[in-house]
Parts: sequence; C-alpha cells; structure tokens
Amino acid sequence: MTLASEARLSVVNAHTTELWSTATRRQLIVRTSDIFHRDNDVLATALAGRRPLVVLTPSVERLYGNRIRDYLRSNCPDAFPTLLLRRTEQSKTLSAVTEICEFASEVGLGRADPMVAVGGGVCTDLVGVAAALFRRGVPHLKIPTTLIGLVDAGLGTKNAVNHASRKSIMGTFHPPEASLLDPGLIASLPRRHVVNGMAEIAKVALVADHRLAEILESHGTSLVDSGLSIPTAEAERLVTYAVRGMLEELARNLFEWTGYARAMDFGHTFSPHIEVASEHDVLHGEAVAMDMAMSLCVSNALGLIGDAACQRGLDLLLSLGLELTWWGLDVHKLLESLRLVCEHRAGQLNLCVPTGIGRHTFVDLADVDVTVLRHAHDRLTALQAAGTVAKHAR
Ligand SMILES: NC(=O)c1ccc[n+]([C@@H]2O[C@H](COP(=O)([O-])OP(=O)(O)OC[C@H]3O[C@@H](n4cnc5c(N)ncnc54)[C@H](O)[C@@H]3O)[C@@H](O)[C@H]2O)c1
Repeated sequence: MTLASEARLSVVNAHTTELWSTATRRQLIVRTSDIFHRDNDVLATALAGRRPLVVLTPSVERLYGNRIRDYLRSNCPDAFPTLLLRRTEQSKTLSAVTEICEFASEVGLGRADPMVAVGGGVCTDLVGVAAALFRRGVPHLKIPTTLIGLVDAGLGTKNAVNHASRKSIMGTFHPPEASLLDPGLIASLPRRHVVNGMAEIAKVALVADHRLAEILESHGTSLVDSGLSIPTAEAERLVTYAVRGMLEELARNLFEWTGYARAMDFGHTFSPHIEVASEHDVLHGEAVAMDMAMSLCVSNALGLIGDAACQRGLDLLLSLGLELTWWGLDVHKLLESLRLVCEHRAGQLNLCVPTGIGRHTFVDLADVDVTVLRHAHDRLTALQAAGTVAKHAR
C-alpha cells in the first residue's frame, strides 16, 4: 500500500467542527536497465499483481511497443490493452485526459488498478492528470523515455495540461507510486531532444550543484553527441546527480505548501511565454535554457552574480548546443507575461537567479523592469549571433 491516511475530528464549538487530515505517500524511484526484458522484475514488482493500463505515444509504440506487450504477456497476463495516445505539446490538453479516462472506463479500470505512462513528459503529465481524476484518483507509474522525463517530468509530483494559450494552467498534485528510470530507453532519442533534456540538467547544475556543472563543462559535448552514453562513468554520474539534485529540491516543498520560492523554478518564469508565443516551436527545455540565460543576465545586471560566473553559465548553455534567446521575443510582451507568473506564485515573482555556479537567490518584480530585460535580451542576442558565427566557422 502506498497511501497511509489519517483523519481526526475536533469540535471547536456547538456550530463548528474541524476535520483534520494528513496523507502520507510513498513514491519509489527505482533505477534499472533493460526494463522491458521479460526477466526484469522491476515493473512487475511495482505492479504487485494489479492490472495495469499502459499508455504509450507513437514513437514509444514504434520503438518499444512489441517489447512492452511481450513483457506484459509474460509478467502481467491480465493487463488491459495498451492505449496509444497521439498527443504532442500542442494537444497536451484536457481533451487528452478525457480520452485516457474514457478508455479506462471502457476497459473497466478499477479503483486500485494503476495507469502506467511510458513516454516523454507529455505522456507522463497527461496520465498523471488522468490518474488523479479517474474515479477521483487511481494509482499511476511513470516510465520516462526522454531525457526531460528521466531527470524531471518522470519524477514529478505535479502533472499539468495546457489550456487557452496558457502553459500548464490546469493540473494536479498526484505523485506517482513509482518512477521507474531506465536511462537505456533514451538511446533512441533524437539529438534535439537530448539537448532539450540537457537544459533541465543545467538547471539543477546552475542553481544547486556545481559538480554537475563541472561534468557538463568537461564532458557535455561528448555526452550530447553520444546520446548520454560516452564517457560512461560521467554519464552515470550525470544522471545520478541530476536525479538526486531534483529530488532533494522537490522534497523541500513537495506540495508547495510552504511557499512559491522554489529553486527548481529556475528557468520556468520567462519560458512559458516563449513556449506559447512560439506556438511550441521552441521546445520546453529549449525555452527553459533561454529563460536561464535571461535570468543569469538579470542577476548580473542587478549585481547579484559576477561577470565571470555569469559568462561561465552562458558558455555552459551554449556548449550544450542550447540557444540563448528566441528571434520572436518581444521584451514588452515578456514583461506583461510576468503578471501571469505572479498570479501563479501568490502575487510574488520569485524569479530564481544564480548568484554563483550552484547557488541562487530570488528576485522580485520591482527589480525586473523593461530596461533590465532589454539589456539582457540585447546581450543574449549578440552572444547568440557570435556563437552561431563561431559554429559556422568551425
Ligand atoms: N510534471 C513535471 O514535473 C514536468 C517537468 C518537466 C517537464 N514537464 C513537461 O514535459 C513536457 C516535455 O517533455 P518531453 O521533452 O519529454 O516531450 P515529449 O513527451 O513531447 O517527447 C519528446 C519527443 O520524443 C519522442 N520520444 C519519446 N521517447 C522517445 C524515445 N525513447 N526515443 C525516441 N523518441 C522518443 C516523443 O514521441 C516526442 O516526439 C512538457 O509538456 C513539460 O511541460 C513536466
């Protein structure tokens, strides 16, 4: 059982009674390899004899669909038919959640039967929301198949959908019972998505773990070129530190009950605007990288980080093949979008900015005016152009 719940009644007076509740949840994070090999018992153990509904997206179906069904036949013969979910970031909406819930209803998914998401962040987010809503909550497991999934979305307690041009505006806090991490699954990931995932690793590195930054600086190019396999020892350490760093930061304030100043929101203040304004041409991690670059420059302009450390952070992003800014960025619209971010953070901007490599602080809206943003944007545009020229000259 993964959920222990307690409730207590307390009578305040003749008219008022308080119902106090606490819920303790356990989320297992298990590293494995060759997860769909029929002799690998990690998934079967997590399922504990229950009937899973496995949800896949098309590339996962193409690459791993047959192996997954072979695995289920050997280890969970009662599994429901798999659901092929044809959704992307553009269609990561409530209608996709409805689609999953309708399928679950048709096949007869019971209250204790787990949904299992095998895919990138789009798939794990959609399944997470569906699992929270179906029958008012069924268990779910995440098996991430992208780098963003492996180090971030696949670990997440929160799950969300986009709606009416707002990124992740509706969602749930519904932790998975287990995150089953098999780094081997990302071997088939296209290079752009490896680079995209590197942005979330750089996020942890720049505000929370200088050791990660050092690995990225020394071996980032080779790790990207090899799809995170060479050098082997560094690839292993990179995933270990990135996952550990993310979990440590999440664990400080898992349900965000103690406030909205979160280090892991570094890179997630300007990025929703960039993703939406580009109609998702700019991928999530790519937008996070542009946001991190902007935040580094804002920090530098405010005197919170020195010139050398700021440049080191920007160079790190460039060395991974990430871009520092987007051609369509309109600084005034960006500033306007911060109002929406403040709504989301109970009236505060809480812009997380590095104060050195692996350290951070928070900045408020009053400090981020159009002049600071314009300065940051112009600097990044110039650096981006110089970086592109240098790349072409090689
Ligand atoms: N809930 C959270 O905590 C959290 C955290 C970070 C990101 N996210 C969300 O995650 C999403 C981004 O995730 P993503 O980058 O994984 O995007 P994605 O799910 O769209 O996957 C990217 C692409 O990779 C393909 N793919 C998946 N696995 C593959 C594999 N093994 N080999 C080859 N191709 C594969 C997919 O089909 C897709 O085309 C965003 O919606 C973001 O908001 C959520």
